[in-house]
Amino acid sequence: MKNIRLEVMEAIEPMIDTYMDEFLIPPDEIWQPSDFLPDSQSEGFFDAVEELRGEAQELGYDFWVTLVADTITEEALPTYESWLMDVEGINQQEGKNNGWSRWVRAWTAEENRHGDVLNKYLYLSGRVNMREVEISTQHLISDGFDIGTDRDPYKNFVYTTFQELATNISHKRVGKLARKKGNILLGKMCGIIAGDEMRHHLAYREFVKTILGHDPDGMVIAFAEMMKKKIVMPAHFLRESGGKIGEAFENFSNCAQRLGVYTAMDYIDILKKLNNYWQIDSLRSLSDEAEKARDYLMKLPDRLERIATRMRFPEDQYRFSWVQANGVL
Ligand SMILES: [Fe+2]
Ligand SMILES: [Fe+2]
Repeated sequence: MKNIRLEVMEAIEPMIDTYMDEFLIPPDEIWQPSDFLPDSQSEGFFDAVEELRGEAQELGYDFWVTLVADTITEEALPTYESWLMDVEGINQQEGKNNGWSRWVRAWTAEENRHGDVLNKYLYLSGRVNMREVEISTQHLISDGFDIGTDRDPYKNFVYTTFQELATNISHKRVGKLARKKGNILLGKMCGIIAGDEMRHHLAYREFVKTILGHDPDGMVIAFAEMMKKKIVMPAHFLRESGGKIGEAFENFSNCAQRLGVYTAMDYIDILKKLNNYWQIDSLRSLSDEAEKARDYLMKLPDRLERIATRMRFPEDQYRFSWVQANGVL
């Protein structure tokens, strides 16, 4: 039996260089964490750190919990790279010319700066218990994740398209909250990370669009299957020291909901945007199964909206070991 997915991945592969030029920025040109952090070689380092710590005082408990969880999510990058390298059609073994593995490496290299800058910021801020944060990070990488995509490139690209936009939204909102409280530096950091996430989102969105041109049946069915399972966040196994797997994630999600950093409505908005950009509604000449998938996807936003309006989130703050409670939102 021929593997259509492998054929499609090979058919798109010659376009990887164009995608890299369009959606990624070479290491010598892109921003680096040091551009935003106090320069430890400069005379004014300690003054700059003091200023950074002063600005960090204004931000409250839910904010820090969200920023810590965002940081740990970024720090679990080894999980994401190794997962993507294992996807069908992405092959790092057969010569360096497999375009897809080059893409994954270059994407990883960009992503790596996110955890780097946020981790250093958290460390300097003096507002979080870094040892507890580090334990959670080690747990998360060790626990891995299961995002329900299997080794299927179609499902994985739906996932990454969705996820990159979700992180764009949450980093952008965290940055806005920081700026509102006078924390200009953190606002800039989150804003610039959000910009990276947007470029990545646009790239993965394009991959799916191209696959739709080659194999609309397979692609739309894979999209619907992902949405049926729900897109889980990459840190869904997040835990604290001594805690059970996934426990910290739920409490963090409640924080993010309360802050309005990432909500159920955002999930629905992303789905609508994807349906729209991929023109799911206008897919024609599909198999019966693919038609069902298309119709499911088109009806899903309304269904989810009805559910979302009924959802309630606990108002009381769970006490994380990462952040000293100070009661301020
Ligand atoms: Fe990121
Ligand atoms: Fe990302």
